[in-house]
Amino acid sequence: MWQLLCILALVITSEAMPKKYAGIQVKKPINPRTSSGNRLDPTLVLPSNYNLNLTVTRDNLDNGKFDGIAKIELYFAKDTDSFQIHAKDLTISKVTLAKSGFSGDLTPEGPDTNDFVTMKSSQTITRGYVYVLEIHYTGKLSDTDMDGFYRSNYTDDDGNTKYLATTQFEQMGARRAFPCFDEPSFKATFDISITYPNTSMALSNSRPKADPIDARNGLLTVTFQTTPVMSTYVIAFIVAEFTCINGANTADGTPTKVCGRPGTEELFSVGLEAAPAALNTMADFLSISYGSLGIKKMTQVAIPDFAVGAMENWGLMTYRESDLLWDENQSSNYDKQIIYMDISHEVAHQYFGDYVTTNWWSNVFLNEGFATYFEYHATAEIRKDWEVAKQFVLAEVQPVLLSDSSGCSKPLSYDTNDPVEIQTIFGDISYNKGGSVIKMLQSFLGIENFKQGLTRYLNNNGHNVANPEILWDSFEESKPDDVPDTVKTVMDNWTYKPGYPLLSLTQNGINITISQKRFLLSGDDTDETQWYVPITYTTSADPSEFTETTTKLWLTPDTDVTIVLDNEDSWIILNNQQVGYYRVNYDQTLLSKIETALNSDDLDNIDEMSRSKLVDDQLNLARAGKAEYADVLNFLTFMKRDSSYYSWSSFYNGFSYLFKRTKDESLRNLLKNYIKELMETLKNSVPFTTEKPTDQIYTLKQVLALTWACNLGETSCVNNATVAFTSYTMDNNIPSRNLKSVVYCTGLKNSENPTEDYNFLYNKYLSTKLATEQLTILKALGCINDSTLRQEYLKLALTDKIRIQDVRYVFQSVYSNNGNEGVDDTLEFLKNNYQDFETHFGTQSTLTSLRSILTSLISTVADLITEEYQIDKLSEFLKTEGLDESVVAAGNKAVESATGNLKTISILEGQLNDYFSPPR
Ligand SMILES: *[C@@H]1O[C@H](CO)[C@@H](O)[C@H](O)[C@H]1NC(C)=O
Ligand SMILES: *[C@@H]1O[C@H](CO)[C@@H](O)[C@H](O)[C@H]1NC(C)=O
Ligand SMILES: *[C@@H]1O[C@H](CO)[C@@H](O)[C@H](O)[C@H]1NC(C)=O
Ligand SMILES: *[C@@H]1O[C@H](CO)[C@@H](O)[C@H](O)[C@H]1NC(C)=O
Ligand SMILES: *[C@@H]1O[C@H](CO)[C@@H](O)[C@H](O)[C@H]1NC(C)=O
Ligand SMILES: *[C@@H]1O[C@H](CO)[C@@H](O)[C@H](O)[C@H]1NC(C)=O
Ligand SMILES: *[C@@H]1O[C@H](CO)[C@@H](O)[C@H](O)[C@H]1NC(C)=O
Repeated sequence: MWQLLCILALVITSEAMPKKYAGIQVKKPINPRTSSGNRLDPTLVLPSNYNLNLTVTRDNLDNGKFDGIAKIELYFAKDTDSFQIHAKDLTISKVTLAKSGFSGDLTPEGPDTNDFVTMKSSQTITRGYVYVLEIHYTGKLSDTDMDGFYRSNYTDDDGNTKYLATTQFEQMGARRAFPCFDEPSFKATFDISITYPNTSMALSNSRPKADPIDARNGLLTVTFQTTPVMSTYVIAFIVAEFTCINGANTADGTPTKVCGRPGTEELFSVGLEAAPAALNTMADFLSISYGSLGIKKMTQVAIPDFAVGAMENWGLMTYRESDLLWDENQSSNYDKQIIYMDISHEVAHQYFGDYVTTNWWSNVFLNEGFATYFEYHATAEIRKDWEVAKQFVLAEVQPVLLSDSSGCSKPLSYDTNDPVEIQTIFGDISYNKGGSVIKMLQSFLGIENFKQGLTRYLNNNGHNVANPEILWDSFEESKPDDVPDTVKTVMDNWTYKPGYPLLSLTQNGINITISQKRFLLSGDDTDETQWYVPITYTTSADPSEFTETTTKLWLTPDTDVTIVLDNEDSWIILNNQQVGYYRVNYDQTLLSKIETALNSDDLDNIDEMSRSKLVDDQLNLARAGKAEYADVLNFLTFMKRDSSYYSWSSFYNGFSYLFKRTKDESLRNLLKNYIKELMETLKNSVPFTTEKPTDQIYTLKQVLALTWACNLGETSCVNNATVAFTSYTMDNNIPSRNLKSVVYCTGLKNSENPTEDYNFLYNKYLSTKLATEQLTILKALGCINDSTLRQEYLKLALTDKIRIQDVRYVFQSVYSNNGNEGVDDTLEFLKNNYQDFETHFGTQSTLTSLRSILTSLISTVADLITEEYQIDKLSEFLKTEGLDESVVAAGNKAVESATGNLKTISILEGQLNDYFSPPR
């Protein structure tokens, strides 16, 4: 890798530097750790500027196409007769390569399966010079896959269909909009101009250079300012009949605005207040103003059809409508929190991703880990009363501790060039583990050292790409003395090894010995990976330590450490605020001391974050066979007095799994009663009839507790929800905005007139234009207590009544709300309707393709299987003729794991019975 690096650096400094490169200061080009045939060759040719002319006329919009001319300045570092460029779904009509003294003809061949178009030249292209490659082409504005330059639609107030053209490029969509070097490390400047209907507006990353000029025939042309050097995947452009509202300028004078469909302006307020606040918070934290990065503008746009939640295009952030538009009278508190966090996430990306970019997708945690970290930690600064930093532990750390304990989890950074595998890198390891490991780093460096390191990292690598080593090295200069090795060495196994350690504590008098071993759910103990683990802890001598996250001592590879207690009877709890990415296993003596403390008068002697962590760890230790369920259920007796949102979130997560892996009806009823009894205090702390919308945690807790209470059939919850639902269907009294999800689902589940009630709510879905409300309804319709209606609902998923972006909520709503029947419904539907799937979804390998929708549907449903006949049904479906190979492969894996799960069921049921009906 370093060899390649040296060659490239040499070429660039020893040849006549093209002007643009001199300007952008290529510092240390960083190449992927390996590079193979399906990647562009960075030692041959580099783009420095793209001049793009895009034309989207009204006819083009109606016909789903666009025209383009791309003029790309290319710097050749070697003599060559041919080179490669990415292009996909583009019809190329003309190609020329120009430089004075060069008169060769260029012939494009391809694209091949890597989306490479090979340009063959009739004359040798000589190294050391800039050539201009000009390509004329047309492209498709596709409706189905929300990738590349694509078409979205909505119905306006007069009932007319309106089309817009918009982009989503990460990871490989730019090549569908213009020929380009579509890998993050090929940065260049962009001059974009767009010709569009005079009834629309055109937006791009940077500001217009001047007012649009009349291009005749009802068209306008706008040219945007040259962008800073940037990666192709954060380029964006939009042609739409939208309206915009200006927000406040940021502290550095950067103007902000929000745009969306006409008629949604009243819903812009959260987007308008959150973006400048997040931009200011990030600028303060990093001591680098947003405007100084290179684009002094921030526009946020709500797009009706959008593949992901939001996208960090530099200066032009795009969102799914439900992730940006909020209705004060109808959307929930949680909807608002999501919007705030999404905005903070994308704003953080302007620094981590757009300004300093991962060198290759293998290291995308350099983008997504920081975005996840700041999604919470910037929002926490802005909305101090929401406890978002504490929610980070529930929503990010604990879930990924679960998935990262599977034997097939991947490291944060691992080499791959395979496009399908690259899509999977955009998952909870890069996001949640990335964010969690960064949080751990922050805690052992201390917040000030952390800030300084980040500022150094950004300043040294801005307009360039980075890799993990460059990041870790940025902290070397400012780190506390107790860090046992270089930051890079400390972070090594967190970065390149999968999983995390289980710390085991053994007491011997006043001495507590701590050792480590990788934690695997399978109980497998053969993995020898060792980590540098920063440890914090609290003992009964000083419970105020629970909020202290400074490292107290380090556990280093292959060496146990000892903590000496003041007093042999003291309890000790590791990992304050769960800032360390590990689990803890206490020996019997230590655990029983914690248990006694939890059952003593003052529950809060042990803070709620620790209770949440203990619940999560204990349930997972039982799941891995390292603790007995009977003991863990006994341990959880303290929950009877606990009403913390944090402990209960972890509790419910663990018990969802127990419900998934039990099938004996009487045992399930015992489990239900056990939970209902334990949650009495919790439920009384958030009565159905007492809402406190200004109290964020109360509100989140109320929704959580009532969702469980109603699902478990707790009478007063079901009664209240049913009364509220009937009052809606009979008298059109809209349920309160925070409890809608509970009321809709419980109402349908307990409906006495299923057809009427289902249709009532479905019609509300059709008539509302509010995206958050549409989603709330879609997530509830599957709760209907009638299998025929559920089949009808599933069929809707394959019609244009449901946007492709929302299809997954339809399935989820059916398979997750109806126990075994929901699984049966879904399997039945798959078998009978596969053909319709094929015609409805595109065949592109994008996020929303048939392949990715089917594979994720199959594996999720398979995970819920509890009966042999359901496995047979799934296997039968996998024999369907013409089924995509990768779907079959994923399906076979799902069958295999479902078969394993059936065995787990009998073991687990045996263990739970030990608790509920102990052998005498
Ligand atoms: C692109 O459009 C701009 C503005 O209309 C024009 O000045 C420029 O010459 C066009 N470029 C090409 C390659 O046609
Ligand atoms: C758009 O152009 C058409 C044709 O030139 C013209 O009739 C119309 O007034 C223009 N509309 C706007 C909004 O400028
Ligand atoms: C919410 O309700 C108030 C009072 O009825 C109204 O003034 C306001 O416009 C409504 N907000 C939205 C976004 O509809
Ligand atoms: C605790 O550790 C110290 C050394 O650190 C040792 O002298 C002492 O014997 C140990 N106590 C017990 C009970 O193991
Ligand atoms: C990483 O884990 C290996 C075992 O897989 C161990 O030998 C090594 O010491 C660890 N390295 C670091 C830097 O922690
Ligand atoms: C509704 O909830 C309140 C508060 O939780 C409870 O007191 C009441 O009994 C419930 N109503 C019904 C009809 O169950
Ligand atoms: C709108 O887009 C959807 C894809 O989400 C497509 O199924 C539908 O046909 C489009 N509607 C029109 C009128 O083109």
